[in-house]
Amino acid sequence: MRNEASTPLPAMPVTRPAGCPFDPPAELAQLREQQPLTRMRYPDGHVGWLATGHSVVRAIFADPRFSSRYELMHYPFADVGELPPAPVGDLTGMDAPEHTRYRKLLTGKFTVRRMRELTARVEQITAEHLDAMERQGPTVDLVEAYARPVPALMICELLGVPYADREVFQRHTATLANQSSTKDDVLAAMTALQEYLHELVAAKRAEPTDDLLSDLTTSDLTDEELAGVGGFLLGAGLDTTTNMLAHGTFALLSNPDQLAALRADPGLADQAVEELMRYLTIAHTGAKSALEDVELGGRLIKAGETVTLSIETANRDPERFTDPDTLDLRRRAIGHLGFGHGIHQCLGQQLARVEMRVAFPALFTRFPTLRLAVPPEDVPLRTDMNIYGVHRLPVTWDEE
Ligand code: HEM
Repeated sequence: MRNEASTPLPAMPVTRPAGCPFDPPAELAQLREQQPLTRMRYPDGHVGWLATGHSVVRAIFADPRFSSRYELMHYPFADVGELPPAPVGDLTGMDAPEHTRYRKLLTGKFTVRRMRELTARVEQITAEHLDAMERQGPTVDLVEAYARPVPALMICELLGVPYADREVFQRHTATLANQSSTKDDVLAAMTALQEYLHELVAAKRAEPTDDLLSDLTTSDLTDEELAGVGGFLLGAGLDTTTNMLAHGTFALLSNPDQLAALRADPGLADQAVEELMRYLTIAHTGAKSALEDVELGGRLIKAGETVTLSIETANRDPERFTDPDTLDLRRRAIGHLGFGHGIHQCLGQQLARVEMRVAFPALFTRFPTLRLAVPPEDVPLRTDMNIYGVHRLPVTWDEE
């Protein structure tokens, strides 16, 4: 075992290279080359670990000796004191067997049949929003006009939010996502959404329809747990897909040869989505806490120590992907960790894939001259957010 007592410990690198909106902080890549699992000093003083290599990040994701419970972890980005346990229904902060109970119930609800039906709805919803963009005319913020409403409405489909309630639902989710919302606005929107989800659960119990929430009312989940799961699905599927659509569009517009390849061969969409997931890794960082002493690749992680997982750096590991810093839609990016790995691997990944496979080609087909409406360096990046991407993406096009 190596002794690092005399070496100064790094903190979590957070600064992305200027002018490279798609690249992780350069120090993370340096650490990965030198030490794919290294000691790290956390802002609250904890001395834990940072994993940057693909194989070690994957191994820790899959290892039941590591916990996902928030209250056992130290936060890598700021000193926020002790973390509270996961709110009711938040699967990512639970361990087995609590997690298994929820996961089993939910897995059965993300059925192939339901995903197939949702594909038809994604096609319809994307077409409606592209029509609206066309009517509005250039220039638009793609996040507002397309990247957020499409996934938001798909979550409504999944949960069975009635049409009459969708506008209110979208208004609250937009307030939560809007950077210029005040703290009071955010709090009010969160409370309203929670209340709405409780009402929705009651309505589904009284009169079940063909959707995930209605299906779950026949399980042993309490009303509070059901509303919690509903809120969690909303959070898990919205910011993530929104930013993949918006940041993915930014990446494609910035790589015209790749965009041309996708336009020339729509059959490339499935592969393109996996490569964009790898290259962008918007869910950039994960975390685990060791439940017991664990020896990994000659290092000893002690019980109680936090390991931060740099998923974005793992997805750029040259030992796993050839020429990893290049966006190459023709590569097979199998094995990327953009949806996580192990028991918490993204439950909504098939839905997210359907949304992206439909929404990217539909956008570029409808607007063949789509381009940024501002210089790339003026696109506001979500550098300080747990989900990376763009706050806004002003785009324009030539009208016929
Ligand atoms: C491109 C979009 C998406 C990305 C990048 C993404 C990414 C992730 C990642 C990295 C995890 C693992 C978290 C961890 O290990 O702690 C995860 C978990 C999860 N995701 Fe997604 N996700 C996306 C879309 C969705 C959608 C559309 C839904 C549902 C509507 C969804 C529902 C979930 C749920 C329920 C979990 C927790 C699973 C568990 O803990 O067992 N996600 N997602």
